[in-house]
Amino acid sequence: MSTETPVAAPLTSIANIGQHEGQTVRLRGWLYNLRASGKLLFPIFRDGSGTIQGIVPKAAVAPEVFDTLKELTLESSLTVTGKVRADQRAPSGYELDVENVEVTQRVPEDQPFPITLKEHGPDFLMERRHLWMRTPRQSAILRVRATIMRAAQEFFDTRDFIRTDPPILTPAACEGTSELFEMKYFDEGNAYLTQSGQLYIEATALALGKVYSFGPTFRAEKSKTRRHLTEFWMIEPEVAYADLGDLMELAEQFLSHIVTRVLEKHRTDLKTITGGGDKAVRLEKIAAPFPRLSYDEAHAMLDQAFSKGLIEKPHEYGDDFGAPDETYISNQFDRPVMVHRYPAAVKAFYMQPDPQDQTKALCVDVLAPEGYGEIIGGSQRVDSYDLLKQRILDHGLPLEAFQWYLDLRRYGSVPHSGFGMGIERCVAWICGLEHVRETIPFARTLNRIYP
Ligand code: 4AD
Ligand code: MG
Repeated sequence: MSTETPVAAPLTSIANIGQHEGQTVRLRGWLYNLRASGKLLFPIFRDGSGTIQGIVPKAAVAPEVFDTLKELTLESSLTVTGKVRADQRAPSGYELDVENVEVTQRVPEDQPFPITLKEHGPDFLMERRHLWMRTPRQSAILRVRATIMRAAQEFFDTRDFIRTDPPILTPAACEGTSELFEMKYFDEGNAYLTQSGQLYIEATALALGKVYSFGPTFRAEKSKTRRHLTEFWMIEPEVAYADLGDLMELAEQFLSHIVTRVLEKHRTDLKTITGGGDKAVRLEKIAAPFPRLSYDEAHAMLDQAFSKGLIEKPHEYGDDFGAPDETYISNQFDRPVMVHRYPAAVKAFYMQPDPQDQTKALCVDVLAPEGYGEIIGGSQRVDSYDLLKQRILDHGLPLEAFQWYLDLRRYGSVPHSGFGMGIERCVAWICGLEHVRETIPFARTLNRIYP
């Protein structure tokens, strides 16, 4: 014999709701928005995977269901039961004919959810980042970020790279001393938060051949720009026996792979993020090979642009490119452009000089289209012991701290190359965002460390 218990409707997510067309399902989430028009309610539910509009005609549901929903405050948590109906006009393609609702926590009227549909300033929103991330656009960005991170790892994992994690607490600078976060380290003197795992993965590359690292990196950037965070995530491959040419091929394939994965999974999210304009079309052009431009060619391009009045300030030969320079260069192409062989003087101490012109470094910056600037920086590394030692001294770096790094040139040194990509810059570019603060759950910048 059996006791009759009502069979609960299957639990699903908004992202997967298309698999349940015509069925009654349950969703667990929150009330994102509510419109009422007479005897009809239009609640919008969110569950983390997306949003869906519900339809609640007064006559079609039990009175207490209608009354509960009608008075429900935004961001109250709930389980909703309803029948899935395809609707071409709905952003997700589906709507929910609501049958029942169970409230988990009702947000009190006198302390409503602070983020409303009206415009809020960035400071207001960043101060409430823990709540702001619930809104559809911010959630969509974080979903795309996760896919970018997964695709980046997958690219290397499926090409026989070994992931090796460098330390975060380090005894010396990697990318210049001015941007170091410093702390006391017991009786060992000062330690610094890592700016890049590069020096350590040069060691693991000489041990394992092809490696990558992926983790948080830190820079005490005093600059308040839309591209700079003080804490950001970098993925860095390093390859033994690879030269600059190999590295550029790796970089273009890597970025193409990431864009492909985002397009496979996130067309709806991209629409949500850009407010309807189809960013996807712009991303469809992103496929290897990417244009390559030497520093000298890029300088000549800027020179011409200045003489035609297309940029405000002339570019001084020998200087690094400023943000307006990078924007102009990248605007000439519909895909990322790889600028190589910068003057050694404006680049890091570990970069191999170009044998054709010793004043240039065998390095590459990948500039994203539409003025997003540098998303990847990389180079071939100095492989001669004597030259590297000289560079360390010339840059005023403590030789003692670099003895282990010099060992890599003492014992079986080989040409090797690697690059680093900042995840947040990549997310900003792919999502078309004004500022990197929206690309990471909790951004750390010059004047913000809360929440
Ligand atoms: O060009 P960078 O400084 O290169 C390195 O750190 C090398 N050691 C990497 C390597 O060769 N393994 O930084 C690499 C990337 C930049 O292209 C940019 O995407 C990102 O890291 N990045 C930042 N992202 C956000 N905020 C900042 N303050 C960043 N600084 C660099
Ligand atoms: Mg750089």
